Amino acid sequence: MKLKANDPCWCGSRDKHKRCHGDRSALARPAVALGNVSAPRSVPDEIARPSYVTTGIVPPPTPQIQDAESLIRLRRACAVAAEILLRTGGQVDVGVTTEELDRVAHDLHVELGAYPSDLGYRGFPKSICTSVNGVVCHGIPDDRPLEDGDIVNIDVTAFVDGMHGDTSATFHVGTPVTALAGLVDTTREATLRGIAAIRPFEPLQRIAEAIEPFAESRGYRVVREYGGHGIGETFHGAPHVSHHVDRHDDVVVVPGMTFTVEPMLCSGRARFHRARDGWTEHADDDRPCAQFEHTVLVTDTAAEILTTTHDGRTAAGTLHDLERAR
Ligand code: MF3
Ligand code: CO
Ligand code: CO
Repeated sequence: MKLKANDPCWCGSRDKHKRCHGDRSALARPAVALGNVSAPRSVPDEIARPSYVTTGIVPPPTPQIQDAESLIRLRRACAVAAEILLRTGGQVDVGVTTEELDRVAHDLHVELGAYPSDLGYRGFPKSICTSVNGVVCHGIPDDRPLEDGDIVNIDVTAFVDGMHGDTSATFHVGTPVTALAGLVDTTREATLRGIAAIRPFEPLQRIAEAIEPFAESRGYRVVREYGGHGIGETFHGAPHVSHHVDRHDDVVVVPGMTFTVEPMLCSGRARFHRARDGWTEHADDDRPCAQFEHTVLVTDTAAEILTTTHDGRTAAGTLHDLERAR
């Protein structure tokens, strides 16, 4: 199942994988050092905050199941998150700092009447996460200018009408590096394959079964320590959504459940460590990692992606995109 260096590359080029999308020198990117983080931005008092921002108490991870009324509110939060991700992603360019992306995203939250859920969550100091190259997740926006050929994941969670909508996508900076496009495109497709595998009254593990063998067949590794999560009134609810096959996972999904699917794929080993800022997770080998995320609803027949705009746009891909890719 796992792709070896001397196997033919998955892309159909007929080159050896190690001379094509698995070329370790083409995949290498500058290691990302921690930069300077500016002061937290403020949100007008009229915009309602999640309770943890004021109390400091994070609610326990309870299951998130929607009724007709709560679903209307969750749809709004998810549409806002999708809109902010698209518009912030549109600002990614050579020389732009992740702090500037944070400012753009923060101002869009305020403009759309949303509170940025990350801001003040367990002490997180910024309004979005920005994870560059070998940063696996939870990068804090700072003063590092993006460089040509970098990849950056932007993760947006918007709190609207008492609900959280959570979505992320990985963007190329300047001219995409072909080997990194393999990682990014595979991670997007893995996310969508995972979502497409969801069926009511079937195991949650259908997601991992769709993601992990697919990722490994292309020579990438799936992060095991982080997963998706129930989402709705609670930011990080139950269940934990594993993206790797785990025979101890016995969760069965039911209609009305809402959770995220957000696999992280690594071009090197999927081992990482937390930086001294207490958040940034760096791949031990500094090899680039990518991630995509959607908030989804389990329906009577399958799953629906909620994190799209009112007119169906998203930076993280649609099930229609998946049909075209397969
Ligand atoms: N949005 C992230 C997720 O997908 C969580 C970020 S929490 C933060 O679950 F505190 F790091 F911002
Ligand atoms: Co997220
Ligand atoms: Co999430």
